[in-house]
Amino acid sequence: MQTGTTTTKVQMAVASARSAGNRIGCVPTMGALHAGHKSLIERAAQEADFVVVTIFVNPTQFGPDEDFGSYPRTLEEDLEICVQAGADFVFHPSNGVIYEENRQVQLCVGELARRWEGESRPGHFDGVATIVAKLFNIVLPDIAIFGQKDYQQLAIIKSLCRDLNFPVEIIGCPTVREEDGLALSSRNAYLSEKQRAHATVLYRALCLAEKLVQDAQLSLKEIREKMLELLVSESGVIPEYATIVDPNTLEMLDERQQEMVVLIAAKVGETRLIDNREIFQQVG
Ligand code: PAJ
Repeated sequence: MQTGTTTTKVQMAVASARSAGNRIGCVPTMGALHAGHKSLIERAAQEADFVVVTIFVNPTQFGPDEDFGSYPRTLEEDLEICVQAGADFVFHPSNGVIYEENRQVQLCVGELARRWEGESRPGHFDGVATIVAKLFNIVLPDIAIFGQKDYQQLAIIKSLCRDLNFPVEIIGCPTVREEDGLALSSRNAYLSEKQRAHATVLYRALCLAEKLVQDAQLSLKEIREKMLELLVSESGVIPEYATIVDPNTLEMLDERQQEMVVLIAAKVGETRLIDNREIFQQVG
């Protein structure tokens, strides 16, 4: 596996792989890699011949009061995971390589970026879309892999490719969880032992919602209330939203439909966690 911090180095490696007829896959990350990220790299290695993992803690997607400074940075361990998962190149640039001091242009995502995560993290998805577009322009991948864990992010990246004609196929991968259901996240490292135990309530709320939707007794509004009740019943957990939405528009649903997705965000102590679950239902 090769590594590099400059755009020239990764571009040369990709150009040489492409001229040998290889399909290029890209897995963008912010590092602090865990089994969830590993599953994306393994999927990329199945779908492509030359896999580029990018590791960059992107400042433009963090709000002023968010954890950019304290975000875990574990490059040595990350490189080990990349090797094991079958990456061919790890691009880990510094801030200066990615962002010109005098930069003038950035992307602005529409309505899809303003609801749910966007409401409490203004500008977050503009930062995500801008960095992903830049990484795509540097790496020029044929395919790119993202986790369903960040459901809204995945929807926005699909829109990015469609709306700006990036010739990149986007593949979404299932969320990897701990045995008790907690979705793996780099931010789980912030949780104390007690908070870690409380944090499983997010997954339990997703399962409750799925069961209640299938039971067909309660309305979606009542199910949302049940989820919120369960979330607040756990000490130290403050829900931000718990909702059932359309998988494409992410608009809140009043009525059941064939495909739905449950989205939850909650603070566990100071740590903000998100999770989601798709629900498929025969209607009518
Ligand atoms: P990061 O949080 O490092 O996540 C990188 C990728 O890993 C994302 O596609 C995310 O959805 C996926 N991922 C995280 N936890 C997962 C889990 N438990 N199971 C499966 N996949 C999981 O998301 C970002 O970085 C950034 O916003 C980025 C897209 C790199 C732009 O800066």
